Amino acid sequence: MLGNFSYKNATKLYFGEDSLKYLSDELPKYGKNVVLIYGGGSIKKNGIYDEVIKILKQNGKNVAEDSGVMPNPTADKLREGVKIAREHNADLLLAVGGGSCCDYAKAVSVSVNCDEDPWDKYFIRFDEPDCQIVPVGCVLTMAGTGSEMNGGSVITNSETKQKIGHVFGEEVMPKFSILNPKFTMSLPKYQMVAGIYDIFNHICEQYFSGEDDNVSDDIAEALMKSVVRNSLVAVKDPEDYEARSNIMWAATWALNTLISRGKTTDWMVHMLGQAVGGFTNATHGMTLAAVSLPYYCHIMPYGVKKFRQFAVNVWGVDPAGKTDTEVANEGLYALENWMKQIGVSLNITELGADKDMIKDIAREVEILSGGYKTLSKAEIEQILLESL
Ligand code: NZQ
Ligand code: ZN
Repeated sequence: MLGNFSYKNATKLYFGEDSLKYLSDELPKYGKNVVLIYGGGSIKKNGIYDEVIKILKQNGKNVAEDSGVMPNPTADKLREGVKIAREHNADLLLAVGGGSCCDYAKAVSVSVNCDEDPWDKYFIRFDEPDCQIVPVGCVLTMAGTGSEMNGGSVITNSETKQKIGHVFGEEVMPKFSILNPKFTMSLPKYQMVAGIYDIFNHICEQYFSGEDDNVSDDIAEALMKSVVRNSLVAVKDPEDYEARSNIMWAATWALNTLISRGKTTDWMVHMLGQAVGGFTNATHGMTLAAVSLPYYCHIMPYGVKKFRQFAVNVWGVDPAGKTDTEVANEGLYALENWMKQIGVSLNITELGADKDMIKDIAREVEILSGGYKTLSKAEIEQILLESL
């Protein structure tokens, strides 16, 4: 049964090969001062920077640049971004990049007009914004996080090794996002497959909770099948527009809050992966991949019916003559096999973690209780050890 819920998505999307031209429809809605937020320079190499700057100039914008947003953006960088946005009296924060730039722009947006330290306020105390929020727009260059159409913002404190996400409300979501699948084609394969696993896992996190018959899970299964099918095409031919466009659109739907409506959710793979990321600064999607199988094998007995459904409906496992556990295990084998085919990390050792770090990483894992088993700290340590 579906629980009661409300649903609204505040972000306007423009999708497709010619979508960047719609930036000119959006820019007139905001004041003159734009802060252009981008990462380590990929947009300069692939030409997206020049295209965006041209449109900003055509629209008479006064542009300040905030570059060098790193993957897993840090609290220090956030403080720097707040300063730039204040000095420029920003009317719009335009993030051009992947989830890191988009997440970072949201964190800056809620901090520009606020006196407190943004890390303490939003990522330690989880306050809600109580100051004027600067609007955010996004030109997405990497498919994965769903940040283009949600209120999530994940920031890393490199001193304390904490990586923490705050899911803000609709007023912080990007006002608009531009999604051109062609912009994702210059991604290195490592990032492309990390993004693909991130998408898949977002769907799993919302799927592996509850056993009711509900339409959110049916949509989740369709999305998972599409991601698997298209990922295999994209890995062989990264220039395949059909596959890249399907992956990009699936990424948005995987985490724009739709498939969590009316049901409980898990999110423990993200809690484990995020803690690993805080200590290793590894690529987000890879941290998830590296802890997933030990985690799912551990919780499967507590949610065997859903894991059986996953095996049959997503992976096409034939259940005839088998116990629920046998079918569920075949589904997890199929998941592992697909992960190997696309080439994601299957252990945290290759991401920079070692046995001596496990207790510290485990300490930082937030324990959530929406999944099939609320883990104890000892179980978390065990899963992390099995992920090495
Ligand atoms: O910095 P540049 O030079 O742009 O290079 C980036 C970066 O090195 C590169 N890249 C992006 N687009 C490219 C490209 N390189 C060539 N061509 C392109 N078109 O890819 C690298 C990774 O980019 P990043 O933005 O860090 O990746 P992603 O989109 O995976 O974002 C990761 C961040 O998002 C957070 C993660 O924790 C992590 O901090 N998440 C945000 C979520 C949300 N808002 O809801 C949910 C997710 O679960 C996740 O936690
Ligand atoms: Zn994720």
